Amino acid sequence: MSVPLFDTRTPLAPLREQLIAKLGEVYDSGKYILGPEVKAFEQEFAAYLGARHAIGVANGTDALTLALRALGVGPGDEVIVPSFTFYATAEAVPPTGARPVFCDVDPDTFCVTQESVQAAITPRTKAVIAVHLFGNVAPVAEIEALGVPVVEDAAQAAGSLAADGRRAGSLGTIATFSFFPSKNLGAFGDGGAVVTSDDALEERVRMLRFHGSRTKETFELVGYNSRLDEMQAALLRIVLPHLDGWCEGRRAAAAAYEASDLAAICELPRPAAGSSPAWHLYVVRHPQVDDLAAALKAAEVGHKIYYRVPTHRQPAMHDYAPAGLELPVTDELARTHIAIPMSPVLSTEQVAEVAQAAHAVAPNRMR
Ligand SMILES: Cc1ncc(COP(=O)(O)O)c(C=O)c1O
Repeated sequence: MSVPLFDTRTPLAPLREQLIAKLGEVYDSGKYILGPEVKAFEQEFAAYLGARHAIGVANGTDALTLALRALGVGPGDEVIVPSFTFYATAEAVPPTGARPVFCDVDPDTFCVTQESVQAAITPRTKAVIAVHLFGNVAPVAEIEALGVPVVEDAAQAAGSLAADGRRAGSLGTIATFSFFPSKNLGAFGDGGAVVTSDDALEERVRMLRFHGSRTKETFELVGYNSRLDEMQAALLRIVLPHLDGWCEGRRAAAAAYEASDLAAICELPRPAAGSSPAWHLYVVRHPQVDDLAAALKAAEVGHKIYYRVPTHRQPAMHDYAPAGLELPVTDELARTHIAIPMSPVLSTEQVAEVAQAAHAVAPNRMR
């Protein structure tokens, strides 16, 4: 592959010795579950985000379910979710007993909007999951102004900044992260976190991740066994201080794409007004996206169409997608989007290679 779709190895290479030494330290400590590393990472990650609390959990999908449960979401409730996202966003809802209700997204930012959420609100709406998709920043305050709490799904947005300079994951009532290895802040296995500045929600999430118990003797809620482990937390503590630098690398790559002539061929992603996304994926649009994919493939340029079948059209979601549900932007994005190479170390030469490869297809802007 002349330009890979993403590159997690190169940025980590200088940290190899430190990471391996840390693994040995944790091994020698004999403490593997909910020990000092998880506690320290939780404090450091909350401080990084400018939030009061972070709670380490097993993965980003559990983080969403636990956040919803902490908000009191349960049977009979509805949770509004975008359909154009990774499937886990909606999948996390039914385990609470509630139903996902699908809404549309903005074609330029790929995120939910106040209007698209408003169109899906009913008297049963208990929460909205606003996904900061591909690292762009959803309008959390505008949605909370509708009177419903927002769970920010920040799985793809570690390091992204909103227009007011606050970090994605600190903008709403509660937020969730995934530390899947390819994410902006990746662990070396599965991991996730719930983030909130609300003390009562923090306490509920802490109980829920440990079988609904504060004491390990009395079990007050039917909860989960969903914990970030000590090894992952220890390694995350080493990579966290590098996150902002890596995000700058991603932004520089996005700026290089903007400065190239790629925009003559396809539609580039647009940051939400005033925001500074830490592009997890760089997703462009082209009406003949399969032709663009073929051109990139021929030039050995990494690419991927992530959400060709949107979530509301997935077989498992059949019962939650009423007949006649129309999400026109979602359907169009599903047809036309494609991720092209993005990483903290994508060079201007590589960007030029991608742009050159794309020129094998006819320019066909969407507007
Ligand atoms: C938007 C979004 N939400 C949730 C998740 C789920 O995270 P995890 O894979 O850690 O369960 C992901 C992971 O890919 C994601 O991209």
